[in-house]
Amino acid sequence: MTKKLVVGNMKMNLTLDEVKDYISKMQDYKDCVICPSYLYLPYFIDADFLVGAQNLSLYEKGAYTGEVSAIQASSIGVDYAIIGHSERRLFIHEDDLIVNAKVKRALSSKLKVILCVGETREEKNLGITKDKIEKQLLDDLVDIPKEDISDVLIAYEPIWAIGTGEVPLNEEIHDIVSFIKKTVKKEFHYTPKVLYGGSTNEKNIEELNTIDNVDGFLVGGACLVPDKFIKIIETVK
Ligand code: PGA
Repeated sequence: MTKKLVVGNMKMNLTLDEVKDYISKMQDYKDCVICPSYLYLPYFIDADFLVGAQNLSLYEKGAYTGEVSAIQASSIGVDYAIIGHSERRLFIHEDDLIVNAKVKRALSSKLKVILCVGETREEKNLGITKDKIEKQLLDDLVDIPKEDISDVLIAYEPIWAIGTGEVPLNEEIHDIVSFIKKTVKKEFHYTPKVLYGGSTNEKNIEELNTIDNVDGFLVGGACLVPDKFIKIIETVK
């Protein structure tokens, strides 16, 4: 089995002093991908971490004040891009058309994509989790060059589990991850790697790590504290 991937999504957290302190404490644990605020990417790159952007512009270049393009991110050594995170879908109103455009930009700049999909609590209660996820996958990956699909990882992130301390049962995660793999395989003849994200922490990682079809974890809150994140990295490797 190939190595599992641990990705830290720092969201809009940490000041420069905190980032410097974080980097010094993580020197022996570069076996992960860090997705800090754009401002701090060069610090992590200079310290030899694999890094990901938390977002990208859907445009190629030009007069888009405040935006950062996939080409620019790639040019400074960014390896991955998180695209379609539920916080951007919800707060910034990114729809599947926008997410699809961003996926294409990322892939054309040779960035690996971490495409986030997942259901709300309401959708889960209505029993339409798979419908929602299938729609997101098909819409977000429409017209992706077939040969680029191996650069796309999917992160299954139930929205109700993000930052809440609630986690689905292992069987539920297994079922959805297998559904995601089958759905992408049917369309692209390729089985993608699938990460789990949503309240992964240093306490539940041992249990989550026993799910045999999960290829890694996208960690939010717990990646901000080196001791907690190190426990996760150590457990998964
Ligand atoms: P969380 O966030 O680990 O804090 O729940 C995960 C994410 O949003 O990617």
